[in-house]
Amino acid sequence: MPDRIEAALRAALASATGPSAPPKLAAALSHAVFPGGARVRPQLCLAVAQACGDDTPQLSDAAAAAIELIHCASLVHDDMPCFDDADTRRGQPTVHAAFSEPVALLSGDALIVLAFEVLARAGVQAPQRLAPLVSALARHTGMPDGICAGQGWESEATVDLSLYHRAKTGSLFVSATTMGAMAAGEEPEAWVELGARIGEAFQVADDLRDALLSEQELGKPVGQDAIHERPNAVAALGVEGAVQKLHDILGGAISSIPSCPGEARLCEIVSAQAKRLTPVEFSRAVA
Ligand code: IPE
Ligand code: IPE
Ligand code: MG
Ligand code: MG
Repeated sequence: MPDRIEAALRAALASATGPSAPPKLAAALSHAVFPGGARVRPQLCLAVAQACGDDTPQLSDAAAAAIELIHCASLVHDDMPCFDDADTRRGQPTVHAAFSEPVALLSGDALIVLAFEVLARAGVQAPQRLAPLVSALARHTGMPDGICAGQGWESEATVDLSLYHRAKTGSLFVSATTMGAMAAGEEPEAWVELGARIGEAFQVADDLRDALLSEQELGKPVGQDAIHERPNAVAALGVEGAVQKLHDILGGAISSIPSCPGEARLCEIVSAQAKRLTPVEFSRAVA
């Protein structure tokens, strides 16, 4: 699975960085995507596609790559001085730190556009699946409930934590599960809950890591939620409450997996992700 994802991303980047491209912007696009982080969203997308039979692998690869490109774009913009003003990401300088703010802004824009292009190109494999896939990716990226909405909540005076998390982080996980199913020719509805639960758990775990771990362990600045006075699960519930919430959400994730040919394998993958989300440091912090 990791090979399929890296190959699809490499092909996407190659198509966007030919000899006619401005060299700095081309280098910045690669910097934003390689080396990757955990690639958890595209893995979830392919895991669901495989659980549904994966009859058109080129389309599910494109869906997985498109989701990761949107994620990378969101990180580039999120790190910029007008948002979180972060100097490091994935253990290396952020795109604006390495290339300048104008190049970072354009990198994020170009990666978002590239995501849709990747999907459109692969659509010839199963044209009747393309429009719903494009529409799902747009919905989970933009307004009123996608990543843009999630980031937009940070400019509001009052914020509902769960609405904010659902849009900022949950939306792309719902994309991962539903688009994995759609790329394999299945209806998306049954896969919404799994994506929503993993997304919510992921954001609570990210808030805990931000509060409890070091910059060295994470490869990005820590303590950011408190510094920016951003609504977060640790501030709302305390460490103990956030750890409990994480366990509760993950408990329901496995039982939300719809019955399908690859159900058992998908349960294993989701359990492994759940373990990864709840490192021993969290339990130690509440002991
Ligand atoms: C970080 O996402 C941003 C959030 C939505 C909390 P990841 O932790 O998946 O980042 P990478 O891709 O592994 O670096
Ligand atoms: C990440 O959110 C960006 C998006 C989900 C759009 P955060 O600001 O909470 O995550 P990190 O800590 O920078 O990865
Ligand atoms: Mg942020
Ligand atoms: Mg940030």
